[in-house]
Amino acid sequence: MKELTITGRNSGSKLLIGETLQNLKNYLPPDRVIVIADSRVDQLYRQHYNRYQVILAGEGEGIKNLTTVERIYGEMLDLEVDRSWFVVGIGGGVACDLAGYVASTFMRGLRFGFVSTSLLSQVDASLGGKNGVNFRGYKNHIGTFNQPEFVICDAAMLSTLPLKEVLSGFGEIVKHALIADETMFRFLEEHHREAVGLHHGVVEYLVYTSAVIKSGVVNRDETEKGERRVLNFGHTLAHAIEKCSSQYTHGEAVSIGMAAASIVSLQQGRISEETVERILKLLKNLGLPLKTGIDKTLLIDAMRHDKKRDDDGIDLVLLDGIGKCVIVRSPLASTADLANAIDLIDDDGHLINLTAL
Ligand SMILES: NC(=O)c1ccc[n+]([C@@H]2O[C@H](COP(=O)([O-])OP(=O)(O)OC[C@H]3O[C@@H](n4cnc5c(N)ncnc54)[C@H](O)[C@@H]3O)[C@@H](O)[C@H]2O)c1
Ligand SMILES: [Zn+2]
Repeated sequence: MKELTITGRNSGSKLLIGETLQNLKNYLPPDRVIVIADSRVDQLYRQHYNRYQVILAGEGEGIKNLTTVERIYGEMLDLEVDRSWFVVGIGGGVACDLAGYVASTFMRGLRFGFVSTSLLSQVDASLGGKNGVNFRGYKNHIGTFNQPEFVICDAAMLSTLPLKEVLSGFGEIVKHALIADETMFRFLEEHHREAVGLHHGVVEYLVYTSAVIKSGVVNRDETEKGERRVLNFGHTLAHAIEKCSSQYTHGEAVSIGMAAASIVSLQQGRISEETVERILKLLKNLGLPLKTGIDKTLLIDAMRHDKKRDDDGIDLVLLDGIGKCVIVRSPLASTADLANAIDLIDDDGHLINLTAL
């Protein structure tokens, strides 16, 4: 097992990579523990934590709202949970975001930890102390910054994850390689088959390296005033795609967003065509999409209403090389460049040769 620490402003968080669900009890008080679990995960794994009281969160992005929060508060009241209790969120990003928010707000805050069960949450969602729920169509609009005491990342639990969800996690893994680690990118190029096949050592290396990158960024900028924004690479277009269509998982939308942001980086003379081709090839080899047929005017409109933009413009995260990113203050009009970049990729996943047209 490998351990990493995130130092939040209120408290620290231990990331336990390669730890198992079976050892959960070693990190918990002997009693007064309440589990908030994803319902699908609970069906598969309840036998490993049935000594504790369990509240089912439900399953899927649609439950991540204040109605579910209120129901869970009610169940906690009925169980006479008070501030001396410990909350454990068990599930992917949805259950962990919900459980972290409930734990941070019920009676002004209870101690809490996570068992992170999806690839996306192991490499991203459950790390960094952002907890929250969606509100009136705005993603993660209500929430807190508060670190879980521990995050258990059990690679064995990924074996029951649907393939589409596995691929979603790879979207964020490639993002970490592109913004911060060329060696990791090369490793992915060489081991993409084993990666998608969830070979144990390969996945453990990728989860660990992702966690090192994300925790490093979060340790330097917990509340996203500066550097943490690099984690939004590929996300401006991805959020617009997710707003316009429910066809894509988050990681798939990020894949399309990263392909477009790489092309805009090429257009600004920051990276070469060969570099863009390498990026497109890796995403394709991992089974991730590079383009979408969604109407571009809808995408541009959604980007212009992105909550991360302000009246003067938008911060675009672009690449200066593989493993090297830069935040570029850009006019709002540059959102059109991102949407138009989709058309510069052909159906085989290569850059269209503009000079030959
Ligand atoms: N807090 C943050 O910093 C942060 C960062 C990125 C994403 N997020 C949030 O994370 C959420 C997405 O997370 P996600 O992709 O894990 O979604 P998710 O929690 O909905 O999990 C995806 C699906 O996989 C199932 N599942 C999870 N683990 C499983 C397992 N081991 N075996 C079988 N099925 C399993 C779930 O039931 C669900 O159907 C979004 O709500 C997003 O906003 C938060
Ligand atoms: Zn993301």
